[in-house]
Amino acid sequence: MTMAPVTERTPPIQTKFPTMGTTIFTVMSALATEKGAVNLGQGFPDFECDPKLVDAVTEAMKKGLNQYPPMTGIAPLREAVASKVEALYGRKYDSASEITITAGATQAIITAVLAIVKPGDEVIVLEPCYDSYVPNIELAGGTVVRVPLTPGTFRPDFVKIAAALSPKTRAIMINSPHNPSGTVWTRAEMLQLQDLLAPTDVFVISDEVYEHMVFDGQLHQSAARFPGLAARSLIVSSFGKTYHVTGWKVGYVAAPAVLSAEFRKVHQFNVFTVNTPMQFGLASYMASPEPYLQLPAFYQRKRDLFREGLARTRFQLLPSEGTYFQCVEISKVSALKEDEFCKWLTSEIGVAAIPLSAFYGNGFDQRVVRFCFAKKDETLKAALERLAKL
Ligand SMILES: Cc1ncc(COP(=O)(O)O)c(C=O)c1O
Repeated sequence: MTMAPVTERTPPIQTKFPTMGTTIFTVMSALATEKGAVNLGQGFPDFECDPKLVDAVTEAMKKGLNQYPPMTGIAPLREAVASKVEALYGRKYDSASEITITAGATQAIITAVLAIVKPGDEVIVLEPCYDSYVPNIELAGGTVVRVPLTPGTFRPDFVKIAAALSPKTRAIMINSPHNPSGTVWTRAEMLQLQDLLAPTDVFVISDEVYEHMVFDGQLHQSAARFPGLAARSLIVSSFGKTYHVTGWKVGYVAAPAVLSAEFRKVHQFNVFTVNTPMQFGLASYMASPEPYLQLPAFYQRKRDLFREGLARTRFQLLPSEGTYFQCVEISKVSALKEDEFCKWLTSEIGVAAIPLSAFYGNGFDQRVVRFCFAKKDETLKAALERLAKL
């Protein structure tokens, strides 16, 4: 029998994301490596986490805690999260039915979106916003409704948010402390959102990954503090940010039982479970609240060190109320567009930054770039020495 020659042919694929390219974070990090630049672009610490946390995970592995954990996360970690949320924000979540451990905030957010957004639903995002929100909504078949935060101050504009609400609005995605601007929503702003949504059936996906990085004595206004919001919110957080372990990709979602049940239906078929030893390690490490209670002071000191240095340049500093980001206005330093400026800064000055235009669907350019100060003091000082030339 003669066999037809095998042809290697990959069938043509209809892309779901025709306009998507490589993200600016990847581009800038690659350029930073190529040019030997100090990388203040991508948001991750360049220092180690607490060795006690590594020990706790190692111990879990050595104890043989290496097989599938429960789908919703191990009970001690869910309990530790519920206790923390109650202690800090005053709302009691049932650890069995209302807390789910996720593979970082990224998986939590896409899972939340897939769980609640149906084709044709509208979802409001406040721009500039974290880069996964829009593709997540698109994957769910939803329509993205972009509402700008007020240019310059990055405060929510409730007139614009109210105007964006429609009978088709399924959810709004909020993020405080805010990446990239470093703004922190006030209690008054959260109350305004609560009032605005009260007559609606709109859900809130509240991205609170920087909840423990709020400075100058301000408080993190978690959606959990506001009963009217908490009842309609999936609150997302990330151990990666809080404990300096962004590569571990472990986070959680807190939501009322009915919402958590829907969330878990998607969760069990996209990730199913989150790695076991990290969960045990985190659970035992969370027995002490000190690490997250000390985090504001830890990062505020770095912020101040970085800002003092930047104040000697011609950059204009924007406030950094929270997160580990510092934004600067570049007009007095350069006439270049934000993205061109960041490439130039990386190649010629040796410091990588991220253009804010990367966080807008239409590439809105307001001459502002973002630096990450989650770095060793020596890294920040090396960057400042280079930036001093500007
Ligand atoms: C606003 C925001 N949300 C979510 C994430 C993702 O967090 P994780 O690394 O836990 O997936 C990040 C990480 O940079 C972020 O800045």
